[in-house]
Amino acid sequence: MKRKLAFFVALALCFFVALGASAKTYTIGFAQTGGNEGAWRDAETASVNAAAADMGITLKFVDGQEKQENQIAALRSFIAQKVDGILLAPVVATGWDDILQECKDAKIPVVLLDRGIETSDDSLYVCKITSDFVTEGRRVATWLTVKMGGKANIAELQGTPGADPAIMRQKGFAEVIADFPGMKIVKSQTGNFNAADGKQVMEAFLKADKTINAVYAHNDDMAQGAIQAIQEAGKKPGKDIIVVSIDGTKQAFTSMVAGTQNAVCECNPLLGKIGFETLIGAINGKTYPKWVVQLDGLYDQNTAKSALPTRKY
Ligand code: AHR
Repeated sequence: MKRKLAFFVALALCFFVALGASAKTYTIGFAQTGGNEGAWRDAETASVNAAAADMGITLKFVDGQEKQENQIAALRSFIAQKVDGILLAPVVATGWDDILQECKDAKIPVVLLDRGIETSDDSLYVCKITSDFVTEGRRVATWLTVKMGGKANIAELQGTPGADPAIMRQKGFAEVIADFPGMKIVKSQTGNFNAADGKQVMEAFLKADKTINAVYAHNDDMAQGAIQAIQEAGKKPGKDIIVVSIDGTKQAFTSMVAGTQNAVCECNPLLGKIGFETLIGAINGKTYPKWVVQLDGLYDQNTAKSALPTRKY
């Protein structure tokens, strides 16, 4: 009888220990770039919020208003609040070492979400979960080169200065067109990854250079701004001026179906679940490759219509 009782007590203990382990709720800080970038970033924020709700995570969210100093202050406040882990979408690539060292000293793992950083010490973060921005740039450049028969006067709308995807997308695109002397970037300026700036910059480009016949925008929001500017200048986007960009938002697909945009390379913003799973793994001692790369597809007007109904962002 005694032995039976001991067995049931032990069983009950195991049950409660197991229950306790699985019921651990994590408090995670998310320092988003923030500001008014647009559809892609909204989709990423929504994905993080939804995953936090699904996984029972207590989320501390800070909108950095596209300023690095705000994101650094957010990380410092997460440390003070003793969060279990941090997701950081770094607005620019450099200048993170000191604050990441503070996180490391506090034993709080940091996962970089959607953008990478430049550092000589990659032990300061768990890993980056991002798309391959150089490849994205190369893919749209290849598509555009074929479409234009190797000859185009291209206006480039760059992303936020110093941001990882802006640097890498410029690099990948330039590498491909370097082999085609007829493919010229005649204008290049930042549109800060948002539609309003993209429109304003494109208006100035169109006034200054009447030979532009292609636009490469580092994201869809700026492409949307460019499309409006082209229309207001009395030209047909998608026909008179070929438009390519990166992200793959529903808006870009709608524009391709309408004929005002020509091609897009995806960049997956639905990173909430994988971000939290990785961070929780790291909190519990798991290690990861430094780059957890996301795979993207390339779409054009031939494939946009059938893909549009199932687009998730
Ligand atoms: O880091 C991902 C990029 O940043 C997305 O392409 C863009 O829309 C965002 O601003």
